[in-house]
Amino acid sequence: MRTQVAIIGAGPAGLLLSHLLERRGIDAVVLESRDRAHCERRQRAGMLEQGTVDVLRAAGAGERLDREGLTHHGLELRFGGAGHRIALSELTGGRTVTIYAQTEIVKDLIALSPEGRIRFEAEVLEVDPASPRVTYRENGVLRTLDCDLVAGCDGFHGVSRAAVPRAKVFERDYPFAWLGVLADVPPSTEELVYCHHDRGFALHSLRSPEVSRLYLQVSPDEELAAWPDERIWSELRTRFATRDGWTLKDGPIREKAITPMRSFVTEPMRHDNLFLAGDAAHIVPPTGAKGLNLAVSDVTALASAIAARYEGGSSALLDGYSSARLRRVWRAEHFSYWMTTLLHTDHSADAFARRLQLSHLEYVVSSKAAATTLAENYVGFAHDGP
Ligand code: FAD
Ligand code: DHB
Repeated sequence: MRTQVAIIGAGPAGLLLSHLLERRGIDAVVLESRDRAHCERRQRAGMLEQGTVDVLRAAGAGERLDREGLTHHGLELRFGGAGHRIALSELTGGRTVTIYAQTEIVKDLIALSPEGRIRFEAEVLEVDPASPRVTYRENGVLRTLDCDLVAGCDGFHGVSRAAVPRAKVFERDYPFAWLGVLADVPPSTEELVYCHHDRGFALHSLRSPEVSRLYLQVSPDEELAAWPDERIWSELRTRFATRDGWTLKDGPIREKAITPMRSFVTEPMRHDNLFLAGDAAHIVPPTGAKGLNLAVSDVTALASAIAARYEGGSSALLDGYSSARLRRVWRAEHFSYWMTTLLHTDHSADAFARRLQLSHLEYVVSSKAAATTLAENYVGFAHDGP
């Protein structure tokens, strides 16, 4: 089989790249190891930067997002039993963020894809960036896909990153993980609450007026079995408690999972005719809500670079892809690290470090300059920004 662009992975990065190329008349095949139901069910991100919403809208994939997405103008930082609003829109010239689940973006993009363009249950085993060619297994049979370019959008556990020789890896592990739950209960807040507590971080997010999404900092070796629903609600109530008696509504928990936290960047993001995008090239801890947004901005840039090559015959954008993206990736890496260390409780930290952390939190909620730093990074930079 032959195509112009072989895309590995049907996560948000691979699906959006396929869709953007299709709109420009460029042929592509998406190879995805899992089945469609699995891809559509995987609970993950929910917070979209304005730039991400703009890209999806411009690509004709924003119809349901516009109907069901929840626009937010601020968030709350809570610590010491009190909440402090960060006025995201006011501090950023009117920019907003939107709550719309990654699962829904994935469903929307799969629904827009022409029959046969995505091949589910097709596991890529090997990438040859020079030929270029991808070897995959489908229905137990080994097949090859010849192409002009390969897009490695196969996430952190994919195979394409290994096809970049002499790559440099930068990484950081954290002594935290997140226990994430999806609960059938109306959110107890209108805006997201990022809460720092001596017992650990907690986040109150939402999916709809009827569904809440909540996260608890737990230790990385924590077992899910140790967290029956009542323990989860009780721990959430303790961490979110305020001096003025805020209450957390509870209800049936539909799903729960533990996710480790890691920072990871591989450089460069290109070798020969292979281009990496999204989690295949970089991971951030979820506290800054950057992972999905970075994946979207990677493939938006990659789609334009690929189109420039086919339409105008220029490879300049493809040649600059890795260095341009890494600049943006490192900004998000720093912000995600910053939010994570600002808000989590490192139980091994000494008393001096704990005092510094509280001073930092107080500074962010009392200085307009510091709050603006948080806000402009959180809502995301324009495509030609830092
Ligand atoms: P993935 O979504 O991982 O997709 C990769 C795809 O490749 C998968 O479908 C996989 O099955 C497939 N694949 C892998 N190997 C192969 C192979 N060999 N052959 C074929 N296919 C293969 N980000 C945000 O921006 N905002 C948030 O609020 C946020 N919250 C998060 C909360 C949690 C709990 C977690 C875990 C993540 C969160 N993220 C968030 C991060 C976000 O979910 C990821 O960054 C995003 O999924 C990256 O998309 P991707 O397409 O690059 O990779
Ligand atoms: C969500 C996840 C995040 O990591 C975050 O920072 C904000 C919201 C969410 O899943 O809704």
